[in-house]
Amino acid sequence: MGNFVKIFDTTLRDGEQAPGCSMNEEEKVKVALQLEKLGVDVIEAGFPIASEGDFNSVKLIAEQIKDCEVAGLSRANIKDIDRAWEAIKNAKNPRIHTFIATSDIHLKYKLKKTKDEVLEIIGQSVRHASKYTSNVEFSCEDATRSDLDFLCSAISVAIQSGATTINIPDTVGYTVPSEFSKIIKYIKNGTEEIDKIILSVHCHNDLGLAVANSLTAIHEGVRQIECTINGLGERAGNASLEEIVMALKVRNDLNPYITGINTKNIYPCSKLVSTVTGVNVQPNKAIVGANAFAHEAGIHQDGVLKQRNTYEIMEASEVGIPSNHIVLGKHSGRHAFKDRLNDFGYKLSEDKFEIAFVKFKELCDKKKYVFDEDIEALINEEFVRSGDFYKLNSLACSSGTDEKPTAKLSLNIDGQIIVVEESGDGPIDSVFQSICKAAGITPKLDSYNVASVTGGMDAQAEVSVIIKEDNHTARGKGSSTDVIVASAKAFINALNNLRWRKLHPKIVSPKGI
Ligand code: KIV
Ligand code: ZN
Repeated sequence: MGNFVKIFDTTLRDGEQAPGCSMNEEEKVKVALQLEKLGVDVIEAGFPIASEGDFNSVKLIAEQIKDCEVAGLSRANIKDIDRAWEAIKNAKNPRIHTFIATSDIHLKYKLKKTKDEVLEIIGQSVRHASKYTSNVEFSCEDATRSDLDFLCSAISVAIQSGATTINIPDTVGYTVPSEFSKIIKYIKNGTEEIDKIILSVHCHNDLGLAVANSLTAIHEGVRQIECTINGLGERAGNASLEEIVMALKVRNDLNPYITGINTKNIYPCSKLVSTVTGVNVQPNKAIVGANAFAHEAGIHQDGVLKQRNTYEIMEASEVGIPSNHIVLGKHSGRHAFKDRLNDFGYKLSEDKFEIAFVKFKELCDKKKYVFDEDIEALINEEFVRSGDFYKLNSLACSSGTDEKPTAKLSLNIDGQIIVVEESGDGPIDSVFQSICKAAGITPKLDSYNVASVTGGMDAQAEVSVIIKEDNHTARGKGSSTDVIVASAKAFINALNNLRWRKLHPKIVSPKGI
């Protein structure tokens, strides 16, 4: 067995299942292209039967990605498998990923099926998928709470029916490293032909052990890890790709395994995923959090200055974190700006570059120093976030000790200009009320947060909001040197995402059969 570990990224499928994490087709394609640059081996692009939107985005990704396998998820039934194949068939290297639960609790309460019936379903579905491609992955959902002998039987049937990758999910994040190690040993000893296939794990983080469990599995011979950028995913999320990859790289003395990941692309990928999903990365998140490389304590700063590795086990640049030195200012020209965008890996068309340059100059008028983070925020604002349906034209807001907070705004709604004026409890409330009035909807504001993009009195504000309407949750982000404008942009971004979610409701969710 070699020491290469395949990285299977499921940000666009399991990650997208997290509440409010929906991405539209265009955003998913952007993330997929970034994952390809990152060097993942497999992109799980979605769950094609779940909705028209899922199907279309998986299809688009399958058609554009050349250097990774593209997987489509399907439950273990003919209809799902056919739909998944339809979506991925044009990929250079398509993979059907089919699954069914194997634990007693799922069999009894969810599937209402006997063990023999489940074995029958596994055989039929994997055989059906294998008619389309030899690249078939089978997952035993809730494997870690399954009867181990039955788990081995289920895996045997899947292998005999043509599966080439067998995935052992810790669906509810219940196992611990010592137990997981025994489960994998048991499977390896108790399953015929197990050496013919690649073993994979898919760990959830409910007990905060997803990365530890995944690393344990690698030591037991598992050679595919399913994970997500920023650890996104259902509930507490999935194993974080960046943590696994860097644990293998930084502690290669104890983990002598390699991946195909270009670690310098980790941070740009993390940023992109956070931008398009609207989910902020917690500041103390390992590898990509804002504080991951910050040294606050004087004694640490002193140590790092004398000898970096007194307190740093890896360099920020190794994961692609830009140094936050002043990059550009009022007098910087087109050339310098273009060079900086290239450094970040942004390739803009001439038209888009001109728009970005005008925005950059506007920012220089408002801010003395323009940092890398400001440029990132600007590009995200203009080109990464979806903003097709509702667009902010102009905004004026007044408030004060003796004034009723009032906002006047002009909104472009699908090409039509709507001008409204509304007051509220405070300036932000008046802005949100006027946006709702113009759009004719009244979502509930679930969360509102402001952070500053960089330090300094003239720093840009980055606002994140979560809104809810009916059963739909949507997130939005916006940045500006003016916190009220940033709030308006965030709210409008969330409305655009909400609209996308309403137009593309999930018809089925993967876990419900
Ligand atoms: O957590 C899980 O069991 C899954 C499977 C569909 C692989 O996401
Ligand atoms: Zn999962």
